Amino acid sequence: MLTPWKVLAVLITIATSARAVCLTNHDANTLATNFGKLISAYSEKLANQTLTCDFLDYSESVNSIIDGGGNSPVALLGPTFASRADYEALSSQQPSVPFQVKNVWFNCNSITVRWLSAQSPNPVVGITVFETVLGPLIGNPSKFLIKKAWSECDSVV
Ligand SMILES: *[C@@H]1O[C@H](CO)[C@@H](O)[C@H](O)[C@H]1NC(C)=O
Repeated sequence: MLTPWKVLAVLITIATSARAVCLTNHDANTLATNFGKLISAYSEKLANQTLTCDFLDYSESVNSIIDGGGNSPVALLGPTFASRADYEALSSQQPSVPFQVKNVWFNCNSITVRWLSAQSPNPVVGITVFETVLGPLIGNPSKFLIKKAWSECDSVV
């Protein structure tokens, strides 16, 4: 018989398992690799599979390089790209840059990636932290999408 206690037990089980939907090793590595591919060879399909529509990217390192260029300064601590559309416009135009994932660490909803961009004459190393959210559960390489990225890198040029 379905007593109120049994109903309560079922509800608690559902609530607990919903909370337990966390990044897996596969999700974390897939998102780290695919984010790197967006930098080295951008495609809109991969962007859709990797980034939320309201994706934002923050990097004071990149902001200070942009400001050093002097053309259109951005706030040092503000988003590097004001929208995902801006991010796509720039990423799809820029020449392909190498991006190699060195380490991936993750918890339930964030991923930390240490990376190397073997550029010439000087290599660039950096660390990026992703905040992730659950995306479409089927049809995507990962169950999760990247909502925010915070990247800081060595800016030797
Ligand atoms: C990417 O997503 C946008 C917005 O949903 C859509 O208009 C576009 O067709 C998608 N592109 C690809 C290649 O799937």
